[in-house]
Amino acid sequence: MGACNRSHEPEDPEQRAQRLAFEVCAYCHTSSPGGIHKVGPNLYGAFGRQAASAPGYDYSTALRESDLVWDEATLDAFLRSPQTVVPDSKMVNATVDPARRAAVIAYLKQHAPDSSAR
Ligand code: HEC
Repeated sequence: MGACNRSHEPEDPEQRAQRLAFEVCAYCHTSSPGGIHKVGPNLYGAFGRQAASAPGYDYSTALRESDLVWDEATLDAFLRSPQTVVPDSKMVNATVDPARRAAVIAYLKQHAPDSSAR
C-alpha cells in the first residue's frame, strides 16, 4: 500500500506544514492505511466518508448518531469545536487557529484512498 507514502515526491513547505499540524492529532490518531486505533480512531480515509465508520473503533453514541459526512466544512466545524458540533463526543481537542485547521484538513484529504490524483 503506497497511497500514503510521502516519499514519492519531495516534501514541499506546504506538505511539511500539514504534517506538522497533524502532529498534535497524532498523539491520539494514526493516519496510514490500516493504522491502529489509539485513543481516537485511525483517520486514514476519514475524509469523504460517514463519521464514526472506521471498523473496530468504539465510537461515542453521539458521534455515531451525528449523521455527519467528513468534508472541508464539517471537519472545519468539528475541529474548531468538537463539543459544539457533536455534544458528548469523546473528542475534546479543539483547533482554534483557522490556518492550522486548513492544514490538518488538507492532510486528511491526502490520507484518503482517492488522493492519488493529487
Ligand atoms: C486527546 C486525544 C485526541 C486528539 C489530540 C485529537 N483527537 Fe480526534 N478524536 C479523538 C477521539 C477519542 C475521537 C472519537 C470521538 C467519538 O467517538 O465521539 C476522535 C474523533 C475524530 C474524528 C472523527 C473520526 C471518524 O471516524 O468519524 C476526526 C475527523 C478527528 N478526530 C480528527 C482529529 C484531528 C484532525 C485532530 C488534530 C487537530 C484530532 N482529531 C485530535 C481523540 C483525539
